[in-house]
Amino acid sequence: MGVYAVTGSASGMGRAVVEKLTAAGHTVIGVDVQAAEVVADLSTAEGRGHAVREVLAQAGGRLDGAVLAAGVGPTPGAERLPVIGAVNYLGVVELLDGWRAALAASGRAKVVVFGSNSTTTTPAVPRRTVGALLSGDVDKAVRSVRLFGKGAAPIMYAGSKIAVTRWARRHATTTDWAGAGIRLNVLAPGAIMTPLLEKQLATPLEAKTVRRFPVPVGGFGDAGQLGDWVVFMLSDSADFLCGSVVFVDGGSDAYFRPDSWPRSVPVTRLARYAWRFLRYPGNR
Ligand code: NAI
Repeated sequence: MGVYAVTGSASGMGRAVVEKLTAAGHTVIGVDVQAAEVVADLSTAEGRGHAVREVLAQAGGRLDGAVLAAGVGPTPGAERLPVIGAVNYLGVVELLDGWRAALAASGRAKVVVFGSNSTTTTPAVPRRTVGALLSGDVDKAVRSVRLFGKGAAPIMYAGSKIAVTRWARRHATTTDWAGAGIRLNVLAPGAIMTPLLEKQLATPLEAKTVRRFPVPVGGFGDAGQLGDWVVFMLSDSADFLCGSVVFVDGGSDAYFRPDSWPRSVPVTRLARYAWRFLRYPGNR
């Protein structure tokens, strides 16, 4: 039986994951702002530092896996923008940086980061928003979305999820992660019925957008089913899954972007491709 850290353990999909792991006999160290083994506010540097240290202490320095589900939705309000960036991006990457050695100690750890299908279905997210977050500068990211006025929150939200997804894919294949036996992957849900979505549906303007959003299979996703996907991505079946983004979104991503991916390496990127190809150390 393993020891798993789960952020966002008090609600929605994080809670569903905790229930499934616990029912299977695993030990779970939950991290949340309330009702968790580790109570920490991931929107602050102190809270993130506390979460890193306290989980390591409770786990005894060895983790079989981690699920990064804590997140805040695209709630409108200028004061929410830094919180979205801090929780959804820094609340993942700072924790994983801090836990990496403990994950490596297990020899076969699995990590699931919660992304979102907003990454591929939200138009016009500025590159500099994503770039600012990837360099850890939340204030700069907030400044980059101010021009969207009242519509800034969904852009900041999608930007935070694009950044965290790219961070995961950049790190997943490196010697520090893949080479250390850690499988790092991203789950990208569509609209799933959880308190986060309920909050959006309770706001008339947001509700209109959510309900009009094309979902080919119809309706909303189920938190328990998403929990099953996470448990599968934590299992031995995921030994060969590395840096993947798994969309479970009722078909919205495929509907909007059928031809965006898979795509051959463009001619303009051939030099970079060749460089990566030639310098790869090989593992056989
Ligand atoms: P939820 O609102 O039910 O649960 C999120 C959890 O994160 C809550 O327990 C909350 O207390 C915790 N959290 C929020 N701010 C925090 C902070 N500052 N410090 C510590 N914990 C904090 O949300 P849900 O829907 O289960 O979302 C889970 C993940 O899935 C999130 O990352 C979300 O962005 C993502 N997602 C959700 C979708 C949906 O439709 N529900 C769609 C796509 C992605």
